[in-house]
Amino acid sequence: MTEAAVRIGLTVEGVDVRFAGTTILGPVSVKVEPGSVVAVLGANGAGKSTLLRAVAGVTPVSSGRIYVGETEISDVTPERRAALGVGWCPEGRRLFPGLTVDETLDVAAPGGRRERAERIGAMLELFPVLADKRRETAWRLSGGQQQMLAIARAVIAEPSVVLLDEPSLGLAPVVRDQMFATIRRLATSGAAVLLAEQDTPRALSIADRVVVLARGQLILDWPTTMAVGNPHFEQALMGV
Ligand SMILES: Nc1ncnc2c1ncn2[C@@H]1O[C@H](COP(=O)(O)OP(=O)(O)O)[C@@H](O)[C@H]1O
Ligand SMILES: [Mg+2]
Repeated sequence: MTEAAVRIGLTVEGVDVRFAGTTILGPVSVKVEPGSVVAVLGANGAGKSTLLRAVAGVTPVSSGRIYVGETEISDVTPERRAALGVGWCPEGRRLFPGLTVDETLDVAAPGGRRERAERIGAMLELFPVLADKRRETAWRLSGGQQQMLAIARAVIAEPSVVLLDEPSLGLAPVVRDQMFATIRRLATSGAAVLLAEQDTPRALSIADRVVVLARGQLILDWPTTMAVGNPHFEQALMGV
């Protein structure tokens, strides 16, 4: 992947999400610097997906602001957010089972035929497990290959901000290790990565900062170095 020409981060300021009068998230403020990974941890139902969906624009926010670099995106459509550099990989992959790896990537890639082919080539370098599966349909791929394809689809336009929702869900340990190494490389190439995860040890192994949500509330936002081995962090994770 080429070094992003402009390194742009994500800023979430006091965002909250309500459904039917009940606050299910927030207010949450979080910053993701370009070239870094922020892990969002917390139990099932803590609000991780809601936070990512709010940034992607598929869940409306009740208040607060979201910026990509200096550009406010709080009030624009998900399509416009994608064009402004937000790549979202939702929970559960959501691939088109009948499309091949090549087709899946080609549909998602911007540009003319030649540019798209170049971008697909870059994705196959970043995700080598897909390289000899190009003509395989998505439903025939292993779980790990499908997840790699879902992420490749989300990042093929080289978004500045990458939202990954539980990418390791259902994957074997060795495949998880590959997945997390790849996510780290995405950040190293300049992306601001917001990673919702339940695999705490692996998330911590690649994250620069860690945010803990419990019942929709942000209860901790620390550098990873401060969190590792810290009993207060462990308590926060358990929602105490
Ligand atoms: N569309 C929705 N309508 C009502 N409640 C929702 C909706 N989506 C999520 N929730 C609720 O919001 C809370 C946070 O969910 P979610 O963000 O999916 O958590 P996580 O991703 O951390 O497991 C949960 O209590 C869930 O039931
Ligand atoms: Mg979730």
